[in-house]
Amino acid sequence: ADAIAGDLTTVLYTPDQIRERVGELARDIDRDYADKDVLLVGVLNGAVMVMADLCRAMQSHCEMDWMAVSSYGSGTKSSGVVRFLKDLSADIHDRHVLVVEDIIDTGLTLNWLLSNLTSRGPASLEVAAMFRKPDAMQTDIDCKYVGFDIPGEFVVGYGLDFDGKYRNYDGLAILDPRVYN
Ligand code: PRP
Ligand code: MN
Ligand code: MG
Repeated sequence: ADAIAGDLTTVLYTPDQIRERVGELARDIDRDYADKDVLLVGVLNGAVMVMADLCRAMQSHCEMDWMAVSSYGSGTKSSGVVRFLKDLSADIHDRHVLVVEDIIDTGLTLNWLLSNLTSRGPASLEVAAMFRKPDAMQTDIDCKYVGFDIPGEFVVGYGLDFDGKYRNYDGLAILDPRVYN
């Protein structure tokens, strides 16, 4: 298969920078949940990388569960419709839930997800997102743990895809627009 690097214009964060920031978030989460059992809820597919790294950077116990939702399909713009593909495996009633996301872009996905999860009566519900775009400010998503606020360009890597690819790029980079134009 073709090399990934040739399709990228600017590297915004290197793997080292991401790892360091994930470590800081993990310390914050360990501290905030010191007297609680936290359930990390990863949003497939994008959150696989941050989930894997974040939970291993934590020093305290956690559990994991997964939901799958999709709103981008094969394009670069949110479809505006959140497709619900896979539910959690277990009940979250009275659990301390921390949703783990790769990115908040329009905020539509989390907006839908948070109202869905709230209706199940968790003891608490917070969000950790590795990246957040300025557009997310418009949707009023209360995100307690943010890795980096990033510019509005279409970015890939560290779980973020274009048409299913580039998730395995280990940093975060701007995708050359010629790839999707
Ligand atoms: C991406 C990303 C977030 C969401 C953020 O998921 O992983 O879940 O979009 O965008 P939003 O804030 O505009 O809703 P996507 O729908 O591409 O599915 P995927 O995780 O399987 O790639
Ligand atoms: Mn996603
Ligand atoms: Mg995607």
